[in-house]
Amino acid sequence: MIWKRRGHAESVAVQDEASQALGEQAENTGMQAEAPPTFAQPPATSVGAALEERPSFLDRLWANPADQGRVDTLPRFTATASDEVEQSTDALMVRRKIALRDAMGASQPVVDREHFAGRHDALRQLINAVEQQRMHVVVYGERGIGKTSLVHVFAETAREARYLVLYGSCGSDTRFETLFSAFAARIPRLYHRSVLPNSPEAESGDNFDAMLEPGFGPRELADVFADVTGTRVILILDEYDRVADPMFRRDVAELIKNLSDRASRVQLILTGVAQNLDEILGYAPSVRRNVVGLPLRPMSSAEVTDLIGIGEAAAEIEFAESATRIVTVMAGGSPYLVRLIAHQAGLVALDARSAVVTDTHATTAVERVLTEWNASLPRRVQVSLSREEARAQWPVLIAAARAGSAADGMFSADDVITELGEARVPSILERDLKGFTGPHDLLEVQEKNGETQFRFRYPGVAALLLMSSAMARLSA
Ligand SMILES: Nc1ncnc2c1ncn2[C@@H]1O[C@H](COP(=O)(O)OP(=O)(O)O)[C@@H](O)[C@H]1O
Ligand SMILES: [Mg+2]
Repeated sequence: MIWKRRGHAESVAVQDEASQALGEQAENTGMQAEAPPTFAQPPATSVGAALEERPSFLDRLWANPADQGRVDTLPRFTATASDEVEQSTDALMVRRKIALRDAMGASQPVVDREHFAGRHDALRQLINAVEQQRMHVVVYGERGIGKTSLVHVFAETAREARYLVLYGSCGSDTRFETLFSAFAARIPRLYHRSVLPNSPEAESGDNFDAMLEPGFGPRELADVFADVTGTRVILILDEYDRVADPMFRRDVAELIKNLSDRASRVQLILTGVAQNLDEILGYAPSVRRNVVGLPLRPMSSAEVTDLIGIGEAAAEIEFAESATRIVTVMAGGSPYLVRLIAHQAGLVALDARSAVVTDTHATTAVERVLTEWNASLPRRVQVSLSREEARAQWPVLIAAARAGSAADGMFSADDVITELGEARVPSILERDLKGFTGPHDLLEVQEKNGETQFRFRYPGVAALLLMSSAMARLSA
């Protein structure tokens, strides 16, 4: 189940980058059910619904459920024990595979510049917002679009400029006091205006948390942070959207406002899955002017090529132009999917003892990814997708998947019509969608503000649909 992302610790973790990366590696071994990243919107929807048919590959997949997982042949040893010449090429292949995984594995965010592709504009804007505008920043975009990677590389860059950068990952039960006392515990008291160098407080090794009373709130925290001196502090709150408690968001908004009013040397960077700034910040007009929103968009094809180039250099392989095209189309601008597919494609090529990744290798990789993705869905969902009704409504389902790529995943019949790009009678389309809302079926339905809203029951289904649509575009 290679596309599953790491499960996130529900509790607060404030770590420096190195231990963060290690922590994630450790976590990674425990598979936790979590939605795979959603897809970036495919570039301009110039493709008519006619093209959104169910690819025959999927038909075959569902026609023979017993074949699932049979894409791979039985495992074999990677090197033979006898032949020396062959052994050395085998050893080379193994080294290349490992290098490929290190450079292209999709389960980890990038934590250093060396593995970071493209995103020059985003990084420049982020630096500019922090350094020139002295603003707080919200980085938002779809899951898997590269927010965590961007802030890690930003952190590395800011540390070189002697900022004190602290990274914290939020979870559904993150509390204000816990998170910020963990941050404060990593800011040496030496940086407080009241503390003189060589004084007992400075030498004690105490940190800012020593100056906070239990039960402190945003105002008390801003009081303490207002007196930071001798450095600038950047606090990164990754996955801010995961926090369930509305009080937390209110407190953070209050903190941002207070820090801004007092021209504090502490700046916040929040990241989250969202389509716009309000979705993540909540309606907070008094805070908006202190915050720069930085949307992270799907990668351009030049950036995708750049990303593939990192894998090519690491594993000493070459992607044929046709293979790069397949990866680019299938990934729809998501670096997560670029890595997932390109990594597989590289492995297929290396298994075939080829140092060139061809379009055939890339196609096999796409089919592997889709097969495993499908296999990860509950069986009854697979059955639902394979039904004749689903095939008949495939363009509608794909349009629904696009419409549902907003953070909360909800969409109406009108949204689906917009995505379809053709005239439909809303009430009829709504009825069609309702055809997929039975118990355990593909969609959930709810009435919200007098409007019927749908949502995919399993986020992996929407991803599969979008991949299927990309697959159809490939053969166009
Ligand atoms: N600029 C980039 N260069 C190379 N790989 C990237 C880049 N951005 C993201 N990735 C890869 O894409 C995947 C998802 O990135 P991540 O930063 O975790 O996204 P998000 O935080 O938005 O969900 C990871 O495997 C990461 O390594
Ligand atoms: Mg992330």
